[in-house]
Amino acid sequence: MSRKNQTLGEFIIENQSSFKYTSGELSRLINSIRLAAKVVNHEVNKAGLVDIIGAAGDTNIQGEDQQKLDVYANEKFIQTLTNRNIVCGIASEEEDDFISINSQDENNQNKYVVLIDPLDGSSNIDVNVSVGTIFSIYRRVTPVGTPVTLEDFLQKGNQQVAAGYVVYGTSTMLVYTTGDGVNGFTLNPALGTLYLSHPYMKFPENGNIYSVNEGNYNHFPQGVKDYIKYCQKEEGDRPYTSRYIGSLVSDFHRNMIKGGIYMYPKSSKNSDGKLRLLYECNPMAFIAEQANGKASNGFTRILDIEPTELHQRVPFFCGSINMVEKAEEFMQNAQ
Ligand code: AHG
Ligand code: MN
Ligand code: MN
Repeated sequence: MSRKNQTLGEFIIENQSSFKYTSGELSRLINSIRLAAKVVNHEVNKAGLVDIIGAAGDTNIQGEDQQKLDVYANEKFIQTLTNRNIVCGIASEEEDDFISINSQDENNQNKYVVLIDPLDGSSNIDVNVSVGTIFSIYRRVTPVGTPVTLEDFLQKGNQQVAAGYVVYGTSTMLVYTTGDGVNGFTLNPALGTLYLSHPYMKFPENGNIYSVNEGNYNHFPQGVKDYIKYCQKEEGDRPYTSRYIGSLVSDFHRNMIKGGIYMYPKSSKNSDGKLRLLYECNPMAFIAEQANGKASNGFTRILDIEPTELHQRVPFFCGSINMVEKAEEFMQNAQ
């Protein structure tokens, strides 16, 4: 059950029992992400006010280490999840390798691992444009009380138990799924409380927005070029509108509400595209499918791709189901 204006805390408690694993551990985990998101939000919001923008490793006037926001966000999420002793492992876009959290301790019964993109769209920070955080949660596959291994992190996206994102936009929202639909919560900054503002979010089946970095057009595969030309053609409900923020979370969020497709294809410059399967594509694909949308690499369902390495990249097409299917049709026909 969900009521509009319910707080995230109330929502988590009320929905805990409907979740298939009822230990309460996942609820505590979502709660920690909520806390870390609020801390990062506070820092993102004052980005223009303090000396936080600048190269990591610089020192500010007080002689303190100055950090880029993506380094800061990475530390806050890892710190919160570690301090609360809630997960047994974390992998982050900002870390070369995964981190074990007391997983070798036989008394550690924590079952979940988290994968995060702590700050998505980081090139937008310096210009006051929305950025985000993406998270993805799996049950470990190795036994509890033994060290986590790469195998715990290299799971197919269809094994996710929860995924979500925070968008630090004109308002700050946390949107997540535990496999039972997608719900969005908006932060009341005066109270520091997140309220259910967008229950059961759904992608419209059709949309009229396409989001792609068209500067790379000449380097795209023929099928993608053909689909872009189709979007621009004067026919029926076309041409579609082009909107590209350059921050996956924000582009996805807008397209889920209004109807649209986000694309980061491979190109002659990036043979696998740019976006990371584990930190970006899988969580967004899980949310998209839970919201009646679709996500593919042009040929295969994202959630069925077998990961081979932590920082693996894949082409990504995601959004309103009919738009993604149309894009796939063009790519398959150009083969
Ligand atoms: P990140 O800031 O985590 O590295 O991710 C940036 C990603 C994604 O959010 C965005 O849509 C895309 O990179 C933009 O890439 P281009 O600048 O190449 O369009
Ligand atoms: Mn990112
Ligand atoms: Mn990032």
